[in-house]
Amino acid sequence: MNKIEAILKEHYHLDAANILPQRGGWSALAFKIYSGKHAYFLKLYEKSRASTPKWTALIDQYVPITFWLMQHSGLKGKLPVPVLTNTGAYKCEDDEGIYLLYEYIEGETVGGKALTAEQVHELSGMIAELHLYGEEIPVETKEIKEDFTVPFLPQLRTALNREINDLPPDVKELMSPHLEQIIGRIDTVGKLSADLKNRDLRMALCHTDVHPWNLMQSGRKLMLIDWEGLKLAPVEADLMSFVDEPYYDDFADVYRKVHRDFAINPDVLQFYRYRRKLEDIWEFMEQLLFDRQEAQERAATLNHLSKELNELSG
Ligand SMILES: Nc1ncnc2c1ncn2[C@@H]1O[C@H](COP(=O)(O)OP(=O)(O)O)[C@@H](O)[C@H]1O
Ligand SMILES: [Mg+2]
Repeated sequence: MNKIEAILKEHYHLDAANILPQRGGWSALAFKIYSGKHAYFLKLYEKSRASTPKWTALIDQYVPITFWLMQHSGLKGKLPVPVLTNTGAYKCEDDEGIYLLYEYIEGETVGGKALTAEQVHELSGMIAELHLYGEEIPVETKEIKEDFTVPFLPQLRTALNREINDLPPDVKELMSPHLEQIIGRIDTVGKLSADLKNRDLRMALCHTDVHPWNLMQSGRKLMLIDWEGLKLAPVEADLMSFVDEPYYDDFADVYRKVHRDFAINPDVLQFYRYRRKLEDIWEFMEQLLFDRQEAQERAATLNHLSKELNELSG
């Protein structure tokens, strides 16, 4: 019996009639599971990947918060619904991976398409609603509270300074022309990180990874998926996804109806923007340095990294 069948049977009492690989996201493999009349969406975080600990460490902390939001906020029906294991756990694992099961969402991922005016409106309403909630909710948020630490920063700095000559030649060649700029950004993020720790900033629940691949149009409903980045953080952690969009004014009009006097803090915005950029670069480097990849996969990662680096100067 294959691993996935075994997991479904053992931890969910499901007999899978069909297991179809799906185009996954960035962090995990994905499968559509048919069992009886029901369809499920399974995320598999492979233990062999360097990024897996980061994506899975807080599952038991963030999933209960999404359940609370589904039951008590205006986001009802707009979040993916996790399916719990037989013992009521949010995840299960074997030697290969960590598994999360969801109800299957019938619909279309927004992905590369531009958001329609209606979708912008709806999304802004959802983000505004999410930002109404903070540490007062009756579910523990301590573990997901922003402390402005950037865990990958020391590793990235070392890889580009002291260990630059240990990088694989193809990676080094790609990085070299951008080194000064990246190190400049590392310094800025480091300074902002230290500075923001000492400020008293309002924090709210933030998704922190709002982009079109995490949005699905399901019938008349827009769904926001992929909540593994859920944080209690300054709202700039989400607003950074919108400030550069052509539809930002429309977004802000709707958002302001809920948060009347909201103003973006430029330091916090810069922290999140730079941090995200460095994190994307680091994630591709991590794949190239630590993951076992086929030649074709490696070429694709190099290509992604190259695009990120070129955007730095743009
Ligand atoms: N519950 C679901 N039902 C159907 N499709 C889904 C579901 N959740 C995610 N997807 C699809 O799978 C893709 C990857 O899922 P996502 O949760 O964003 O994973 P990742 O963390 O790897 O980015 C999404 O872009 C979406 O197309
Ligand atoms: Mg995603």
